[in-house]
Amino acid sequence: KPDPRPQEETVKYEVTDGVAWVYFNRPDKRNCMSPKLNRQMKIVLEELEFRDDVKVLVLTGEGSSWTAGMDLLEYFRMTEAEGLGAIRKSQRESYGWFERLRWYEKPTVAMINGWCFGGGYGPLFGCDIAIASEDAKFGLSEINWGILPGGGASKVAQELMPFRKAMYHAMMGENLTGKQAEEQGLVTECVPAEKLKERVQEICDALKKKDGHALRATKWTMRRMVDMTYDNGLDYQIRAQEALHSFGGKEARLEATSQFLDKKEFKPGLSTFDT
Ligand code: ACO
Repeated sequence: KPDPRPQEETVKYEVTDGVAWVYFNRPDKRNCMSPKLNRQMKIVLEELEFRDDVKVLVLTGEGSSWTAGMDLLEYFRMTEAEGLGAIRKSQRESYGWFERLRWYEKPTVAMINGWCFGGGYGPLFGCDIAIASEDAKFGLSEINWGILPGGGASKVAQELMPFRKAMYHAMMGENLTGKQAEEQGLVTECVPAEKLKERVQEICDALKKKDGHALRATKWTMRRMVDMTYDNGLDYQIRAQEALHSFGGKEARLEATSQFLDKKEFKPGLSTFDT
């Protein structure tokens, strides 16, 4: 049966000490992504993006799942029954928020607490840092129900994983543990379940201390350069650094340099300057 709850309940969030904790919130449906959830997630992400009290965004799941991928009932079967217009609309709604996340203004951390399937690879890739529980499970299950990993999922596997591992992952429909996902490059690292929140909090605390404009320029540069030649990447880096100057980047750098060279207050090789 379709989820009868209103759109607003499909995503929940709280902001604590500069961190926005955003939850896929359909635990009874293993947080699979319905058109309602996709619409609500876009609204929530956009609302949080420019709030001064949000320095870092964490995307996690309520219950036993991060997300079980696209909703096979509401996203596929029911939408397809309405025809091509409805299909394209729901594709745009989901790809739209995945895209927002890839180019988010603030640093983002995926905290993968459980199942992560198929369409979930879009937001997984959208987050800048991904920390998984050791017992999380990752799967391109599409092949198990007769489709290819679409919605960005196969591209994510191919971008993040060694080719041979990505090919096996896409063709076999077997799940990876958090540990395997870490070894194969799908996530940044994995930790025991009981340490998951603590580790993510630690990362958020470190990110909060850094210059937000420099972080944004860094993450966008890293993403933008993926398909650039070395020379184009170098040129982009020069321009991105100079663009930072219109956000106080020059003053920040002069101050940081002075804290190191003149005041001897910190060492950039060991910690972050006082912003
Ligand atoms: N789409 C629609 N409903 C789903 C989905 C989904 N992706 N995942 C779970 N649900 C629903 C189940 O139908 C069930 O609904 P019901 O309570 O109304 O019967 C409820 O969520 C709970 O699911 P269970 O299967 O009972 O939970 P369990 O913990 O035993 O298993 C698991 C979890 C392994 C995640 C299982 O639900 C599953 O295989 N889900 C599908 C995963 C998947 O292949 N997703 C699609 C990837 S491809 C893509 O995204 C394009």
